[in-house]
Amino acid sequence: MPTDSELVIERFRSAGQGQVFAFFDGLAPDAQARLIAEASEIDLGEVNRLVRTLVAPGGPAAADLEGLVPAPYERLPGHGGDAGAWSKAAAAGEAALRAGRVAAFTVAGGQGTRLGYDGPKGTFPVTPVRHHSLFQVFSEKILAAGNRYGRPLHWFIMTSHQNHAATEAYFRDNRHFGLDPGRVHLFRQGRMPAVDYSGKILLESRGSLALSPDGHGGSLRALERSGALDLMAAEGIDTLSYFQVDNPLVRCVDAAFIGWHLLKGSEMSSKTVPKAYPEEKLGHFCRKGGRLVVIEYSDLPIELQRERDPSTGALRYEAGSIAIHVIDRDFVRRMAQGVGALPFHRADKRIATVDAAGREVRPEKANGVKFEMFVFDALPSARNPVVIETSRADDFSPVKNAEGVDSPATCRADQLRQFARWLRKAGAAVPADPACPPEFALEISPLFGYDEQTFMESWSRLATKPAIENGLCL
Ligand code: UD1
Repeated sequence: MPTDSELVIERFRSAGQGQVFAFFDGLAPDAQARLIAEASEIDLGEVNRLVRTLVAPGGPAAADLEGLVPAPYERLPGHGGDAGAWSKAAAAGEAALRAGRVAAFTVAGGQGTRLGYDGPKGTFPVTPVRHHSLFQVFSEKILAAGNRYGRPLHWFIMTSHQNHAATEAYFRDNRHFGLDPGRVHLFRQGRMPAVDYSGKILLESRGSLALSPDGHGGSLRALERSGALDLMAAEGIDTLSYFQVDNPLVRCVDAAFIGWHLLKGSEMSSKTVPKAYPEEKLGHFCRKGGRLVVIEYSDLPIELQRERDPSTGALRYEAGSIAIHVIDRDFVRRMAQGVGALPFHRADKRIATVDAAGREVRPEKANGVKFEMFVFDALPSARNPVVIETSRADDFSPVKNAEGVDSPATCRADQLRQFARWLRKAGAAVPADPACPPEFALEISPLFGYDEQTFMESWSRLATKPAIENGLCL
């Protein structure tokens, strides 16, 4: 009788992936066991299919843009939207929050390579004065919203194998920033093996596979596998408010957005901002064959990105995706169980590996392919997907790059502008551009106000209004 290990090795050999065990005999028994465990995770049929369709010569096919048109969206009342419909939506969303039907959901499994920060991205210090982390900002917004609606929120956070333990320790060490630890649920996303350009699974070292997170689209199956969906069902939660870990401006739960989603009977809803300029690196909401799709900036020809509406001068494909969604729990379950399963995308990357002699190789240029799923690929399968406009200044300023656009510096300036806008609205005198004098120390904790409305309410309750010549920390 072959042992379990022999069966795994044989499975890889017959799939043409026997190189994974090239150094197996020289490994210590515990290292052998670890490699076998990693290998057992791999769905070889899936890998070989992806190699055939995405890596083999000729593939992947360019995105099919036949019949593509810009997607319509619900405009903000200030931009011609129906004010009555927006206030009905806000009321419906508030009712859902008060009934405890909504949970927050953050995807935080990415590797944050572009930022060059060592550690889970959520621990990055992002606020202008107190240098609070992304996770602290979200925690305080979620805590404050729970208090406001009289129902503490559950918060699901998807991590990766690489950052799970560090993320868990961070929350523990910071006492979950005041949240009930029983309502903060961390779970790992799935992993996919990386392959070289001939489709062979790469080793990261002699005794381990080159595995990487399966993309934020992996969140749908990870929510199912981790038991998060069952927990939601048991707690009476049917709606997830989804956002990325890189965006501290996001309204973690936005009543009007949740209300639009519920009133339209949507299974997956999205927020959009008009693109700031044609080359801005955002996905585009479009319709194709009667379905809502997101076409990545890299897949939409630049001529189309530059096209303008002759009557208004606005970009034709102006509806940018800022990766904020509301998702129905049962829809996640359906997608996770494979009905309309998400496609994988190919990403060419530099992948640390070993050479034929088992020596470490740190390549200078891309040497292979990683496979990732994108959550927005679920949109075409969703019933009645709705897209609503949001104001960029109130929802979107991501930290992606160490410098330049979408960097800590631009995000800091956007936070300062938001705080200054709220103060000005309340009648306080603040500099025209608070980001200009760097010594102007301004920060407002989400516990004081996490959006304009909650800020104004707290401000009006202050018996003595604080002086703000040199800044203000609330
Ligand atoms: C993403 C979107 C883009 C959108 C932009 C808005 C893609 C391919 N593109 O770009 O359409 O306009 O955000 O900011 O998504 N993550 C995981 N696990 C993974 C990979 C990523 O949890 O395996 C998380 C990251 O932690 C992060 C988020 O997903 O929170 C975004 O990932 P990232 O790869 O940085 O997306 P972008 O290319 O910036």
